[in-house]
Amino acid sequence: MSKAGRLVVLVSGSGTNLQALLDASADPAYGAEVVAVGADRDGIEGLARATRAGVPTFVEKLGDHPTRGEWDEAIAARISSYEPDLVVSAGFMKILGAPTLEAHTVLNTHPALLPSFPGAHGVRDALAHGVKVTGCTVMLADAGVDSGPIVAQEAVPVLPGDDEAVLHERIKVVERRLLVEIVGRMAREGWTVSGRTVRIGKETGEESK
Ligand code: GRF
Repeated sequence: MSKAGRLVVLVSGSGTNLQALLDASADPAYGAEVVAVGADRDGIEGLARATRAGVPTFVEKLGDHPTRGEWDEAIAARISSYEPDLVVSAGFMKILGAPTLEAHTVLNTHPALLPSFPGAHGVRDALAHGVKVTGCTVMLADAGVDSGPIVAQEAVPVLPGDDEAVLHERIKVVERRLLVEIVGRMAREGWTVSGRTVRIGKETGEESK
């Protein structure tokens, strides 16, 4: 069983999910701490949040590498240098390659109820489809787009008059809480993966006392 005390969090944008993890890990009882924050671009609020919290940051831009494979190797090396127990992709807008996925467990969060509406526009696509209920999914990353084993999901209603921004904000309130809860439980109780089933806690399914 794996446990997750040391977190490396990857971001590409505003970093409100990162902030929720930083805030939670201020309490030692949470069981996990953010040891580094990585990004695929400069000048984002996610990196500023890390710096304000005194957490080291790194940036690995795809365009700075001749090939995707070299970027994959470079970001895996950066992540591994912090010896994380768990990598959290929290609004990181790149698919991680084999060098990272083979070395680490990567947790990802998505603003829709997978397997519906994967990809970069999950909120927009759900709205365009006319669903009445959407939500968020916390899952393990695999080589596909939002296709890894699901760890937890929570539903969020779509309300009349919602646009993409309003609906995404309603989802993100739930998403942050769910991500913090799942990362904390994985850190404190450990986890196992069997096929597409992710179990947090003892293999019997009981929670640790
Ligand atoms: C989240 O909804 C995440 O699921 C999606 O982008 C958003 C990132 O938000 N991929 P933030 O950067 O954590 O504020």
